[in-house]
Amino acid sequence: MAELLERLGIELPVVQAGMGGGLARHQLAAAVSDAGGLGTIGFVPAGELERELASARRLTDRPLAVNLLLPFARRAHRRAAAGADVVVTFWGKPRRPGPKLWLHQCGSVDEARAAHEAGADGAIVQGCEAGGHVRGEVRGFELLERTRMALPREFPLLLAGGIAAPGDVRAALEAGAGAAVAGTRFLLSEESLAHTAYKQLLLKAEATILTELFGLGWPAAPHRVVPNAATKRWGGPSDRGRVLIRAANRTLSPLAARVPQGAQRRLLARQSPAMPLLSPQPPTDEDPGRLVQSAPLYAGETVARIGRVEPARSLVAALAP
Ligand SMILES: Cc1cc2nc3c(=O)[nH]c(=O)nc-3n(C[C@H](O)[C@H](O)[C@H](O)COP(=O)(O)O)c2cc1C
Repeated sequence: MAELLERLGIELPVVQAGMGGGLARHQLAAAVSDAGGLGTIGFVPAGELERELASARRLTDRPLAVNLLLPFARRAHRRAAAGADVVVTFWGKPRRPGPKLWLHQCGSVDEARAAHEAGADGAIVQGCEAGGHVRGEVRGFELLERTRMALPREFPLLLAGGIAAPGDVRAALEAGAGAAVAGTRFLLSEESLAHTAYKQLLLKAEATILTELFGLGWPAAPHRVVPNAATKRWGGPSDRGRVLIRAANRTLSPLAARVPQGAQRRLLARQSPAMPLLSPQPPTDEDPGRLVQSAPLYAGETVARIGRVEPARSLVAALAP
């Protein structure tokens, strides 16, 4: 563990997951890093990524990470990411994004092996209980154990999924992780830019579902969300609507993926639970509150254990064993 923390340049084995679409910007990443963990700026258009990193640098002189979603990352994103201390990649064939310390988030042993072979400096093992897009089908601790056995001891592994309390971090470290990665817990922080109504719905939530519903522009990519009007309308287990949405997502995605993110935000504002074209963009504080019923409310299973929005600094201190 100590060696990984040293390489990352951080004091505590707590990493805040990059949460894209404007949920985790400089405020959150800087607060986490400043408290001794590793804060991560989520995936946004390249120009914004550069500005977010510059703003975070003004708030802290500690190491900062950025997240790149590989299916959407362009050269300009990789250039912006080169200004961070750590780059975390997700979704797709692992390939080095640049010269900086590189972690790839994986959902299977094979994927972690591919990351190791591609020269990653470590892998984040993501269990299927995680919030947001979920890469694999195995729960976190089991995947960590299998991956630990398959890869050389010195290759650093971090655990994502199921981390919301100090006991979770302690258990992850005991199981061989060098650090623990939490998304949902930090989404419910004061510094995350999730819409207030999104945070409120999560605080009341007791369960999550895995769906492909919000896949316009990113099809066949399961994601864990808290149910809302859209999942109730289109996501029922025997609902023909689910099949319709999947087909629409597959057909329209090549086109939707080419729409610039700014235009995607404008389209999102028109989204309604009655319309079977549902974008992966989550509701942020810049969106109208009604979107919480038609946009994805990404959250992991830990949401059932989280009762309060707290400052990120206190969360890092509380999570550290
Ligand atoms: C709201 C939300 C958004 C997410 N967005 C991203 C993302 O843009 N990129 C990424 O690599 N992972 C993303 N994830 C997944 C996290 O990297 C991580 O695997 C997950 O948060 C761990 O599970 P937990 O939420 O239970 O802590 C997201 C997770 C959440 C909860």
